[in-house]
Amino acid sequence: MADRIMTSQVTDDERGLEATLRPQTLEEYVGQERMKESLRICMEAAKQRGEALDHAIFYGPPGLGKTTIAHIIAREMGVAIRSTSGLVLAHAGDLAAILTNLQDRDVLFIDEIHRLPASVEEALYPAMEDFQLDLVVGQGPSTRTIKLDLPRFTLIGATTRAGALTSPLRERFGLVNRLDFYSPAELHTIVMRSAGLLAVPIDQEGGTEIASRARGTPRIVNRLIKRVRDYAQIKAQGRVTHQVARDALSWLGVDSAGFDEMDRKILLTVIEKFGGGPVGIESLAAAVNEEKGTIEDVYEPFLIQSSYLERTARGRQASRLSYEHFGKMKDLLS
Ligand SMILES: Nc1ncnc2c1ncn2[C@@H]1O[C@H](COP(=O)(O)OP(=O)(O)OP(=O)(O)O)[C@@H](O)[C@H]1O
Ligand SMILES: [Mg+2]
Repeated sequence: MADRIMTSQVTDDERGLEATLRPQTLEEYVGQERMKESLRICMEAAKQRGEALDHAIFYGPPGLGKTTIAHIIAREMGVAIRSTSGLVLAHAGDLAAILTNLQDRDVLFIDEIHRLPASVEEALYPAMEDFQLDLVVGQGPSTRTIKLDLPRFTLIGATTRAGALTSPLRERFGLVNRLDFYSPAELHTIVMRSAGLLAVPIDQEGGTEIASRARGTPRIVNRLIKRVRDYAQIKAQGRVTHQVARDALSWLGVDSAGFDEMDRKILLTVIEKFGGGPVGIESLAAAVNEEKGTIEDVYEPFLIQSSYLERTARGRQASRLSYEHFGKMKDLLS
């Protein structure tokens, strides 16, 4: 159960919850202050000039608010948003169909933009730069290319893997933003807001406990509050106090550092099977039976940011903090 709570997969059932809890305005969007400030200025300036916002890309681990900010931008700019994904856009023709249907200044949101096939990505370059699309029409000897003029749109891209973007694509974005993990205080604000929207009675301390164990991630905070609510309802007359939150979280398999089973498995594997590391990502992935990309995009960023795992030139290494967390002794000779 803990794995489901902490990983990136979003079920259909959950989309409803995400929609309910998703902030609608920049004002409601907690944290990421630098990003918000720069967006505020750029949006205001574009609005004053009556122009579309520059193309923007948001990158960072799952659940930190990339899709949310894309929707907020469209709303604040007062334009429509059309959403698609790098996995869905298989042909340049699919892109043409979407782009030609946009209105001036509309937002086209491409999730997982690093997954775009090369042919679609190449068609995107002139669209982003000159608002033109080269379309190949006809067959055989009568094949020709026509240039289509496009509306002045804003492309918003999101990706969990900034490293997987080609540089020609990356360079065509005027606004490039990395989303950071959220502080416990920011997550606390989100827990209390979500609890309010879900009508869950909660104490400040109950909120603090959930916030401190949510892997720095708003999506996880929202999942935890929902599960903790169930626990409180059955075991504690519905109120989420400090103690109830603690009991519920340990029942869920979320430990004091906010680690779930896979986090623990990764760290313990580095410590126990590989003598603390360094161990190459391929060997680690094989040992924990998880995809390399998932470890890199979903698990490792938080473990590194919270100083439990270190990334060195020779591979991943468990930190002293990591040994302490699991009550293990680091061999002083190594
Ligand atoms: N800054 C924020 N303030 C409050 N809630 C937030 C914030 N960012 C995200 N959330 C909440 O977390 C949920 C997940 O956010 P979102 O879907 O935007 O993440 P994402 O970065 O697009 O993730 P993925 O990489 O999996 O697509 C949202 O439904 C929203 O309720
Ligand atoms: Mg998203």
